[in-house]
Amino acid sequence: MDVLILAAGKGTRMKNSKSKVLFDIAGRPMIYYVIDSTFQVSPEKIHFVLGHDSENVIKKLNKHPMKNKFNYYIQKEQLGTGHAVMSFLKGIKEETDNILVLCGDTPLLSAEELADFKDYHIKNENTVSVITTELASPHGYGRIIKDKQGNIKRIVEQKDASCEELKIKEINSGIYIFDFNFLKRAAFNLKSSNSQNEFYLTDLIQISYKEGKKAGTFAGNKKHLSGVNNIVALSEARKIIQKRINENLMLAGVDIYSPETVYIDYDVEVENDTRINPFTIICGKSKIKKDSVIGPHVFLKDSVVEAASVEFSHLEGASLKKGAEAGPFSRLRSGTLLSEDSKVSNFVEIKNSTLDSNVKASHLSYIGDSHIGSNSNIGAGTITCNYDGKNKHKTIIGRNCFIGSNSTLIAPLNIGDNSFVAGGSTINKNVPERALAFGRSRQANKLNYNKESSDE
Ligand code: UD1
Ligand code: CA
Repeated sequence: MDVLILAAGKGTRMKNSKSKVLFDIAGRPMIYYVIDSTFQVSPEKIHFVLGHDSENVIKKLNKHPMKNKFNYYIQKEQLGTGHAVMSFLKGIKEETDNILVLCGDTPLLSAEELADFKDYHIKNENTVSVITTELASPHGYGRIIKDKQGNIKRIVEQKDASCEELKIKEINSGIYIFDFNFLKRAAFNLKSSNSQNEFYLTDLIQISYKEGKKAGTFAGNKKHLSGVNNIVALSEARKIIQKRINENLMLAGVDIYSPETVYIDYDVEVENDTRINPFTIICGKSKIKKDSVIGPHVFLKDSVVEAASVEFSHLEGASLKKGAEAGPFSRLRSGTLLSEDSKVSNFVEIKNSTLDSNVKASHLSYIGDSHIGSNSNIGAGTITCNYDGKNKHKTIIGRNCFIGSNSTLIAPLNIGDNSFVAGGSTINKNVPERALAFGRSRQANKLNYNKESSDE
């Protein structure tokens, strides 16, 4: 069985220029969830009909791990779902037995349900099967019209329905399986004589009924079938998918406190024996390993935390080893490595730097393009001046160093092991091992300077 995903539409109701199917849900495009839902159907090929913003959609689809199964067809003008299928049929070269048709805007579908739907279609030897469900408020959906025997006869769109038909609660989910030979022949008989002047894919039901072919409905779970047509619906879908992600993690042993305040992207890996505290966002390709504590109030992207803790901080492209601590209030940018037991906190920014084990930088520093040896202490307000206006330079600080408060370290600079830098220094020459470097004028006290004051 092949799969066909329709995604050429403008998504007018989204009121955005980019394709609807590219809106992200937990860090990946909506259409990726539709692709995932076909997993248990084991499609040989997945065909996409694209149109609006197709270049960007193809760019994203080509990053999907299953991209070798993908074929793309362009529907230049969006003349309806039936027309989209015609664009596909004009382009397809291979043959297949049955084809599962989905829309790119239904990210909540369940893989088990689609597998059951496939079994249903094959067991019943249907020509057309369609997933339907009953909705209390079916507004906007196509309605299922059945004959006296209860067989599906046709589908009528909201805009074409009579008052009587509008009362029908059973709706078309937009998910079908067609016998491929029937589809190939019948799709080109579709007409656009309806209120929207569109070629409706749904009219194929009526065509098959008139031909006396076997069609059937499969009752779907309404929670999985809703389509994203505007940003309110998108936010609902995001909520549901985030809940699924968090629940899967909790069931795997991740202790998420207050999960409704925690956002974890689909591709993030979190091991068990970890604690995620409230108001935490973990995104991109982050990995949280055992015995870590993240949050409260952390933004963490593309970072790896191994048995370390982070609170009230912003991390992007950082890596923390066992026993390391970040925060409260630190910003760790790309290329930051905090080795075992290193600690950074209160308003310390670090970029492209390695802190070896047990380094402390506790207050108000900028550390960029640096390497700091183990057990060194970076005093409050220390700044590495890594940029001379044109180029970036490195600062190397050895082991067991003590950098006094408010030091300005002008790179390129090498500070040897076991050295001291006096507080308030500006250092622009290398410091040998075991030295004490002063980089400031000596203090002078002028005695009896204040002649007016008197203690008598
Ligand atoms: C469609 C169904 C409706 C069903 C509903 C379920 C038709 C005529 N109606 O309506 O019965 O209840 O889905 O959500 O099929 N698309 C194209 N090219 C086009 C038009 C649409 O590729 O020319 C794609 C869209 O990108 C989208 C999908 O087809 O992914 C559905 O289109 P949409 O306009 O959302 O259809 P609905 O009006 O929701
Ligand atoms: Ca829709």
